[in-house]
Amino acid sequence: MSERLEDIAQALVADGKGILAADESSGTIKKRFDSIALDSTEENRRDYREMLFRSPAMKTAISGVILYDETLRQKAADGTPLVDLIKAAGAVPGIKVDKGAQPMPGFPGEKITEGLDGLRGRLEEYHKLGARFAKWRAVIDIADGIPTWGCVKANAHALARYAALCQEAGLVPIVEPEVLMDGPTASHDIDRCYEVTEWTLNTVFDELFEARVMLEGMVLKPNMVIAGKNAPKQASAAEVAEKTVRCLKSTVPAAVPGIAFLSGGQSDEQATENLSLMNAMGPLPWKLTFSYGRALQAAALKAWGGKRENVAAAQRAFDHRARMNGLAAKGLWRADLETAA
Ligand code: 13P
Repeated sequence: MSERLEDIAQALVADGKGILAADESSGTIKKRFDSIALDSTEENRRDYREMLFRSPAMKTAISGVILYDETLRQKAADGTPLVDLIKAAGAVPGIKVDKGAQPMPGFPGEKITEGLDGLRGRLEEYHKLGARFAKWRAVIDIADGIPTWGCVKANAHALARYAALCQEAGLVPIVEPEVLMDGPTASHDIDRCYEVTEWTLNTVFDELFEARVMLEGMVLKPNMVIAGKNAPKQASAAEVAEKTVRCLKSTVPAAVPGIAFLSGGQSDEQATENLSLMNAMGPLPWKLTFSYGRALQAAALKAWGGKRENVAAAQRAFDHRARMNGLAAKGLWRADLETAA
């Protein structure tokens, strides 16, 4: 595969494919395993991810996989590095490189993502281990009086510093400024989400420009424009699609090859339907696809339940979800396909 950043970015948003976000940190994967009453051991984490990476849909609907540091170094039960399973399926291995969102000093209720110190050296090692793209997630919450300009600006600046370092190291940066739909309050309506997302994305692209990031060699991973999960009035899928596309058109330069959404707490089907409606509104200046964690894995995790005898059923559940989202990336998903054999 080509090592050019532009080519890797294009591969990540190839027609009908999207990204599997399997980069849950040790804390997050423990929460996921708690839901199926399974201990979060290194072996269980390996078995779970190996099950996903060996699924047939990896070849047809998944362009890249975001890994956590541990997974990038792990081997399958038969000794094959997990990275090689991903490559054999024709997908690009990626790596989460931020060190998590921490309380931002002086800004109560807000967070700043850490991980820039020593990042240049870590990226060099990740490239040697086979990663060709990276992810950094900034978290912007909405509540009374927040976000503040200080928080939006600091997070956008860190994203731009990270993106520039990635490109220097030969990795495509996935730039993820997530305006939360499931923060501690999450009672904002869709129009407030629009306003904050527009502000955040404008600030991020200003910072990317100032940091001399090549837009052709990156992928944006934003939230959809959507009401908070506790909002009394939830927006329809048509409204989410229309407002998200409008917001992105007014903030994301056409030089960016693709936008891969996070699912952020939407139900599996909601995340698929919204994406499909947006693609059906085309032509659009960039590819629109998925980089889902929960909305791609929830059904598979449940079907697996940590038991070897459930691997085939779990892979079927994962394949189905990946296929539905692959169709949504082309604007071709329909509700009746969810139940069709
Ligand atoms: P969700 O799709 O579960 O929001 O996860 C995507 C992700 O990678 C968040 O950083």
